[in-house]
Amino acid sequence: MEVFENIFAINHRFSLFFLGLLLLLASALSLANAKTHYHEFVIQATPVKRLCKTQNSITVNGMFPGPTLEVNNGDTLVVNAVNKAQYNVTIHWHGVRQMRTGWADGPEFVTQCPVRPGGSYTYKFTIQGQEGTLWWHAHSSWLRATVYGALIIHPREGSSYPFSKQPKRETAILLGEWWNANPIDVVREAARTGGAPNVSDAYTVNGQPGDLYNCSSQGMLKYSFKLVEMGGLIPKLKTNKKVDCTNQLSICIFH
Ligand SMILES: *[C@@H]1O[C@H](CO)[C@@H](O)[C@H](O)[C@H]1NC(C)=O
Ligand SMILES: *[C@@H]1O[C@H](CO)[C@@H](O)[C@H](O)[C@H]1NC(C)=O
Ligand SMILES: *[C@@H]1O[C@H](CO)[C@@H](O)[C@H](O)[C@H]1NC(C)=O
Repeated sequence: MEVFENIFAINHRFSLFFLGLLLLLASALSLANAKTHYHEFVIQATPVKRLCKTQNSITVNGMFPGPTLEVNNGDTLVVNAVNKAQYNVTIHWHGVRQMRTGWADGPEFVTQCPVRPGGSYTYKFTIQGQEGTLWWHAHSSWLRATVYGALIIHPREGSSYPFSKQPKRETAILLGEWWNANPIDVVREAARTGGAPNVSDAYTVNGQPGDLYNCSSQGMLKYSFKLVEMGGLIPKLKTNKKVDCTNQLSICIFH
């Protein structure tokens, strides 16, 4: 009986050992595909011309909107934010669940002190169990008016979106607003007077006002979209005489 129990105990120990080994292999395999993406975000004043006027806007890497980040679910993002602007700044990864990396979330004076002019801060976080298109933006004052961009999370390599039909082509659409004034001055004025901040001078799609505004850029493409799970924000589309944008399922994209 004792011998039998010993054999059982040994078997039990062995099976636990093999189970552990299997689990270790499985997690190593699933991590093998995960990548780490390194980016540098240089936050700086950049001349941007919209509505016939040039503004010294705060941008990331001189781009407005800022760079589109593309990752796969499970990947890690390492973004070094270098502040060459005259304002304090932080970057928020909107919608990303920060798993044990709360200090990478970005809201100033909530999860971190802002990055001072001349300073830098490296955001590092892993995207787990999320896929789809999110966005990143400045989370200090109204810098987000010009400091923002898309964050696209593709499914893990080898897997697909949880829809029966997979997208044939993907295009990020960023809706925004443009002020002819410095957005920081607009919000500071509102804080000083107690009034509402001045309304923006144009609505933008991918950083461009449409052809209804003067000095809009020439090149224009039109896509038709079926909007799925819009989540509540529906852009107010104005009638555009040149291309038919009256159909609610159409969005005109300006490049
Ligand atoms: C800028 O950030 C520093 C800390 O990082 C803080 O002490 C200072 O008050 C901030 N300035 C403004 C105008 O928010
Ligand atoms: C806000 O609008 C008023 C009225 O048009 C204008 O006088 C003021 O300069 C604007 N403020 C800023 C910060 O642009
Ligand atoms: C566009 O320019 C024309 C001619 O200069 C001007 O009359 C008009 O008010 C401008 N429209 C806008 C929206 O600025």
